[in-house]
Order: sequence, then structure tokens, then C-alpha cells
Amino acid sequence: MTGKIIGTGSYIPDTRWDNNVLAGMMDTSDEWIRERTGIVSRHIADKSTVSEMACEAAKKALEDAHESDDTFSADDIDVIIVCTLASDVLLPAVSCLVAEKIGASKAFCYDLNAACSGFLFAYNTCVSYMNSGLVKNALIIGAEKLSDQVDWSDRGTAILFGDGAGAAIVKATDGNAHMVMHSDGSRYDALTLLTGKKMYMDGQKVFRFALKSVPEVIEELLLGADMKKSDVDMYVLHQANKRIIEGVAKRLGEDMEKFPMNLSEYGNTSSASIPILLDELKRGGAIRSGMNIVMAGFGAGLSWGAATITV
Ligand code: COA
Repeated sequence: MTGKIIGTGSYIPDTRWDNNVLAGMMDTSDEWIRERTGIVSRHIADKSTVSEMACEAAKKALEDAHESDDTFSADDIDVIIVCTLASDVLLPAVSCLVAEKIGASKAFCYDLNAACSGFLFAYNTCVSYMNSGLVKNALIIGAEKLSDQVDWSDRGTAILFGDGAGAAIVKATDGNAHMVMHSDGSRYDALTLLTGKKMYMDGQKVFRFALKSVPEVIEELLLGADMKKSDVDMYVLHQANKRIIEGVAKRLGEDMEKFPMNLSEYGNTSSASIPILLDELKRGGAIRSGMNIVMAGFGAGLSWGAATITV
């Protein structure tokens, strides 16, 4: 069994801060941010919470799934997993609120925090449930309001992040699932958010980790899947930094055209970045049924992983 993505949705807050807005808040410039990160703007959830954004993205993913299969309804969803690193609601799980909002009365629900690897870990978790026979359909969501968590006077960190949510409905389908996940708690202090504090990041440490670990984990995945790089149509990577994605492509010896990006518009939205990108690619027609897609996530933990996804 593997997990086929049959519906996607996303929620992007209206408020958009380009780099010049940040240059008015701290000692930085549009030129510096573009050159070092590829980021041009980020969206700020000044009027919505994590749980609200999660619900909006979920509603759209359900509508999308219903469009391709009009018999599909919220009651077909067996599990809802919301990935977030900090939510406005701590009890119950945000996923319980999503279930109530979309009328998914049969789903069991919980939240998962694997930081920027959250969506990938949730996808692998629900595909594992599918292989055990526990679930047939899953709703997985990444929702983040990082504008509340960064220190807006820390120019080395705050410039990177943005807010938003993305969701996917995953259906058990015949086929083989391939997945790899890793964590290294000994390097936990490279990126932290301690209670009552703002986010702390050692940017260079995280940069070096990503450049080494992401190509390695993709190679590990392809080896386990008995796939060659030439079999891969597209790599959907966590949207952290253009230089990281370019570095991964170079180390893999792959063409940049296989690495779609939207981080210039949204910055790094942590667990929401992959599902927002998937939603844009699906709605824009760039993802077609039968394509071989590799998804890879990485971030705080340190945690990282990859999976083949079916669309
Ligand atoms: N604007 C202008 N100057 C800045 C700046 C900013 N926003 N942020 C840092 N600088 C300065 C530093 O103070 C330093 O100045 P100095 O040389 O006078 O001391 C200089 O720029 C270089 O800083 P450095 O930290 O070495 O820059 P960098 O090339 O490593 O880029 C990051 C910084 C954060 C962009 C980069 O390390 C990075 O992208 N890391 C990965 C972060 C990430 O993706 N995290 C999420 C993972 S999920």
C-alpha cells in the first residue's frame, strides 16, 4: 500500500510583508535577504490563528478531493494529523477542531511536532497506518504562525519565516511506499523555541546540516526504493532557502528544473511549506497523475527525511 494525494488545499494570510518592510524594522536590506535566501516576501497572519488557518486549508483540501471523487466526504477520513510547532490551542489537539469544522465524525485526531519535517513525518505515519490496515483515508495539515515566534529584532532569523497552512487528503492505494526518517537530538540546540522565549537559530549550523543531510537522505530513499535519479520527475523539498535547494540539486547532480520553489513569496513556513507547494503545483497542473515525486523535509530536532509520493 502507498498513499495517494487526492486533494490539496492551502490558506495564505492576506497581509504580505516584502523585504523592504523588514528593512524598516531592523538593520537589513532587500538585496541581502534576496541574495542569501531567495526570499522576497512573507505573509503574516495578523488576523488568523494557527487553528483557523488549519481549518481553512483542510476545507479546501476536502473540496478538492470531492471534486475528483464526488462520493468522497469528510466521513471517509479515518485520521487527521495537524503538524505545528506552536498553536493557539494546546488542548484539545488542533486536529479535533478541524474534525469539528469539516464534519469528520469518524476520524481519530492528534497533532504532531517535528518542526519543518512535520508534514513529511505525518505523511509517512499515515502511509504506515495504511500498510497496517488501520486507516484508508487521512487528512494531514501543516499550519504555522511563525511571526509570533520569531524575535523581530534578530535579523539573522526573523527574515526567513512566514505564516500559512497547507493540507492534503491521502488515500490508501495499491503500490509500494518508500520512506526514510532521521533525528539527531544531540544537535537540538541549533534551532530552538523554548517556552516563553523567541526562536533561536544557529543559521550556519542549520545550513551545513541541510546541505549534507538532504542529498544523503534522498540517495538513501532512492537506494531503498531501487530507483535511479533519472526515474524522479520532481523533488518537492521543504522551502527553507533557495541556496539550500540549489546546493541539494548540485550535490545530487540534478537539474534545478526538477525542484519547484515558492519560497520567494512565502519564506519558510515550516511544516506548512511542503503542502502549500503541493497545492500550488496541483492546482497549476504541474503535478500529473503517475509522476514519480520525492518529498524531503528537514529542520529543528535536528530531524530530516524523505518519501516517494503518489499523486
Ligand atoms: N541582513 C543583513 N546582514 C545580516 C543579516 C540580515 N538579515 N543577517 C545576518 N547578517 C550579517 C551578519 O551579522 C554577518 O555580519 P558580519 O560578517 O559583520 O558579522 C554577515 O551578515 C554574515 O552572517 P552569516 O550568519 O554568516 O550569514 P549567512 O551567509 O550564513 O546567512 C542565513 C545567514 C540565516 C541566511 C543562513 O545561515 C541560512 O540560511 N541558514 C539556514 C537557515 C534555515 O534554513 N533555517 C531553517 C531550517 S528548517
